[in-house]
Amino acid sequence: MRRLFPSSTAPVPAADAADAPVSPASPAPQAAGPEWSIAQIAEEYAYPPVGEGADEADRWLRANMVASLDGAIHHGGRSQPLSSKADMWIFGVLRALADVVVVGARTVRQEGYRPAKRRSGFADRRAAAGQSPVPAIAVVSASLELDFSAPLFTEPVVPTLLLTGSGAPADRVGQAREAGAEVIFAGEGGAADPARVPGLLAERGLRRQLTEGGPTLLGELADAGVLDELCLSISPRIVAGSAPRIMNGPVLPDPDEFTLEGVLEEDGFLFTRYRRLRNVTE
Ligand SMILES: NC(=O)c1ccc[n+]([C@@H]2O[C@H](COP(=O)([O-])OP(=O)(O)OC[C@H]3O[C@@H](n4cnc5c(N)ncnc54)[C@H](OP(=O)(O)O)[C@@H]3O)[C@@H](O)[C@H]2O)c1
Repeated sequence: MRRLFPSSTAPVPAADAADAPVSPASPAPQAAGPEWSIAQIAEEYAYPPVGEGADEADRWLRANMVASLDGAIHHGGRSQPLSSKADMWIFGVLRALADVVVVGARTVRQEGYRPAKRRSGFADRRAAAGQSPVPAIAVVSASLELDFSAPLFTEPVVPTLLLTGSGAPADRVGQAREAGAEVIFAGEGGAADPARVPGLLAERGLRRQLTEGGPTLLGELADAGVLDELCLSISPRIVAGSAPRIMNGPVLPDPDEFTLEGVLEEDGFLFTRYRRLRNVTE
């Protein structure tokens, strides 16, 4: 793993000896840089400070997505064929830093989402930050057509959240609650209002927010102007076909501008991190 941007002659942050290297199976450190530990990756992706106050705007929503060189976000309906070992390490670290992972129901169904796993390397860090042992998974769904007998609902370390509209099917709301999920109404009709999602999570103390898409949900969050940061892994593969881009939905009235914060590289994968330049009127 090497940092391409910001370029610096300074060494990467000190490794925590207790942490495994980020690429334990890599044959040798790349000539351009050392292997990175989990602690170093965590330092690179640390959330900006988010407060403990009542201000629901005091939160940070980051997205993490992987795309092929030709812009596809899946191959055969799954993102795994585009991913790599380093991509999965970063995916895991981003989860381990987050209070909550927000995800669209179709991704949950298609990718067979499971509860977030405990990561021993992050236990102390999370406890010190006042975080639960793992992030909560927050599924956004209008239909609530989800398998409530699946481990995502029956075996989470912390209860899975469901964000929906108050017009969601009452029987399914009941099934979700029986299964142990917390149902949050984030809209008056059948759907959740994406603009309200980050604030409702922040109200519950879930301020370090991570969304893993998919493109439909991510497009809505971008359209609502609530996305703060985009971590985009560019996979050195092409797949052609008609898979969507990382955001799929109505075109934004004006292009939304982001600034490059960092680029890491391993095995031809680029791990980019962009921060949204907010409109001064917001
Ligand atoms: N490459 C990557 O990084 C990456 C990441 C994630 C996903 N993916 C891929 O993306 C594909 C799935 O993405 P997708 O765009 O089709 O779907 P998605 O965004 O994951 O989920 C869409 C679903 O989320 C729910 N939803 C979205 N907005 C809502 C709102 N405002 N209120 C209530 N519910 C809302 C609806 O669920 P209901 O139908 O239940 O109402 C909707 O059908 C999969 O192939 C997956 O592998 C790739």
